[in-house]
Amino acid sequence: MPRTAVLAYSGGLDTTCAIAWLREDYGFDDVIAVLVNVGQVFDVEEAMARGDAAGAADVVLLDRKEAFASDQVAKAITTNALYEGKYPLVSALSRPVIAEAVASLAEELGAEAVVHGCTGKGNDQLRFELAFKARYPGVTVIAPLRDRIWTREEEVAYALAREIPVTATEDSPFSIDENLLGRSIEAGVLEDPWAPPPAEPYALTAAPDTAPVPVEVVVGFEAGLPISLDGRNLSLVDLIHELNTAAGAYGIGRIDMIENRAVGIKSREVYEAPAAIVLIEAHRALEDLVLTKDELRLKRGLEQRWTELVYDGLWFSPAREAIDAFVAATQRPVAGDVRIQLRPAAAIVNGRSSPNALYAETLASYAAGETFPHDAAEGFIRIAALETELAAARERSGSGEAAQTEA
Ligand code: ARG
Repeated sequence: MPRTAVLAYSGGLDTTCAIAWLREDYGFDDVIAVLVNVGQVFDVEEAMARGDAAGAADVVLLDRKEAFASDQVAKAITTNALYEGKYPLVSALSRPVIAEAVASLAEELGAEAVVHGCTGKGNDQLRFELAFKARYPGVTVIAPLRDRIWTREEEVAYALAREIPVTATEDSPFSIDENLLGRSIEAGVLEDPWAPPPAEPYALTAAPDTAPVPVEVVVGFEAGLPISLDGRNLSLVDLIHELNTAAGAYGIGRIDMIENRAVGIKSREVYEAPAAIVLIEAHRALEDLVLTKDELRLKRGLEQRWTELVYDGLWFSPAREAIDAFVAATQRPVAGDVRIQLRPAAAIVNGRSSPNALYAETLASYAAGETFPHDAAEGFIRIAALETELAAARERSGSGEAAQTEA
């Protein structure tokens, strides 16, 4: 029986070389390279040609862009997912989609192994492997770039020796991952946390000091999800594309951070995710208007746990699903409009409105005609203060004074 491996293929240098390694060094007869479209910019012809040249038995192109938007991206928006308060999980969200597609095909083909191109230092290996195992329990996982460390020069030489076409961009010092939601940029000069990011690797955002004059956009929401931009109904995919362009022009969603990886190292990361930042700001602002205080308190805590689970590779986990059930139960009233000013390097919420608002102007207002029951406030505070007073009296009695509390 021929030995078959199914590889998560990106069309880049690492996974192109992996096709050849799997045949030459790991002894596989058939390598199926699976290229999953999650909204990244890539050259189909080129990826196919390289896969063939590297010796793939087949290069399979799977379009999961819509599925990615309606599942992972939608959940990240309703959960206001920002890892360590900043990173909208761009790469972390796409891995389970890619891994699931690879694992399903591997199981269908009865393949011996599934393969990813991650190194041993990052988070992506966790995300791929946990998802592979969740979707094809018992499968063997191979990580050639963890088994042996290759420099880019070695890979280029290896590819050229096998007449695998290598492009000029291959000598870029940056490691870039992208999808519908944005781009993750690592390595090169960014490894020095003091060095400012150069302009070169940015593709979705302009420098804030070249931004046009500020504008206001209105994002419409229904059941927790954005459905319109300035009154025009759009699919989530189109809305993200449009907002990436509009907000990207102001340098909104450029994120430069020192991040704590799951494997215990801190790394300097640069991201571009203009739409994600605008949509999460807007979504949170609408939730503030319509959810109860306790829903918000519970949700803000669970949002952080959800984000950490997904970052750490636990997309396919009962805990993530359970938090999703809570989040889903809160989203029905999250409908209405949020007006946001786009200005250099910032998206500012300027106003929000919802037919489901719990905000009541007659209660909140300081103007005449308000209806807040002022007389009730006195009794409310007397009771609320009981425990504080008892505890304070106990402190004093410890210093010799008798506890004097008023019942
Ligand atoms: N550090 C980010 C994360 O863990 C980005 C990883 C993206 N990978 C890359 N090759 N640039 O999600």
